[in-house]
Amino acid sequence: MLIARTIAELRAAVREARARGRPIGFVPTMGALHEGHLSLVDRARERGAWVVLSIYVNPLQFGPAEDFQRYPRDFEGDCRLAEGRGVECVFAPSDAEMVPLPPAVTVVPRALADCLCGRHRPGHFEGVLTVVAKLFHIVEPDIAVFGQKDFHQSVLVRRMVRDLNFPIEIDVAPILRDSDGLARSSRNRYLGPDDRRAARSLSRALAAVVLAFRGGERRAERLRAEAQRVLASAVGVRTEYVEIVHPETLEAAERAAPEDVCAIAAHLGSARLIDNVILGAPDAGLVRLLVPGAEAAR
Ligand code: PAJ
Repeated sequence: MLIARTIAELRAAVREARARGRPIGFVPTMGALHEGHLSLVDRARERGAWVVLSIYVNPLQFGPAEDFQRYPRDFEGDCRLAEGRGVECVFAPSDAEMVPLPPAVTVVPRALADCLCGRHRPGHFEGVLTVVAKLFHIVEPDIAVFGQKDFHQSVLVRRMVRDLNFPIEIDVAPILRDSDGLARSSRNRYLGPDDRRAARSLSRALAAVVLAFRGGERRAERLRAEAQRVLASAVGVRTEYVEIVHPETLEAAERAAPEDVCAIAAHLGSARLIDNVILGAPDAGLVRLLVPGAEAAR
């Protein structure tokens, strides 16, 4: 596996792979890799792609009071995991390489970024889209894989690619969860044992919403209340939002439809956690939570 530290090295490697006829697959990450990230690599490889995985903790997307300095970093561990999963090239640029100057030109999303996470993290998606656009121009992939875990991010990346005509296919992979339902996240490393237990309330809240939806409840207000009830019963969980939105416009639903997404953000200790579900098509990890008796059997 090649480790490229500079844009020039990365471009040379991609050029060579392309000359050998391979489509280029791209998985952008901030490192501290886990199975969720690696499931994105699997999807790119299933498409026969030569896979580039980037590891870059992007300063542009962290607010001044957020966790940029202490964001988990484990470059050697990440490289072992990436290589084990068949990544052909890790791109790990320094700040000097990636953002040498405070940018004078950025990608600023419009109203689509004003809800959900965008409402609570001003400037966050400008930072995300700016770095993703830069990475797309550097790697020039045929296909890029993102996770449904960061639902709002995936919607904005799709729109950026469409609105700005990037010749890149965007694939969005389902959320990978631990066996107790908690969505895998680099930030789960911040959780102590008590918080780890309380963190399960996010996936449980989503499971309760899906159950109510399956039971015929369509009033979004009632479905949201169902989630809020579960979150409120968990010790130490401070709910930031529970919303039910259209999967592309992100408009809040009054009556929920199967394609709508219920999205949650909550604070727990010093960690901010997010999770979501497509009401009519929950991911496999959430379906396991819905099966009666699954909890007792664990
Ligand atoms: P990061 O949080 O490292 O996530 C990288 C990718 O992995 C994202 O597309 C995210 O949605 C996906 N991912 C994370 N946890 C997942 C899970 N449990 N199941 C499936 N996919 C999961 O998202 C970012 O980095 C950054 O914003 C980035 C796009 C790299 C730009 O800096």
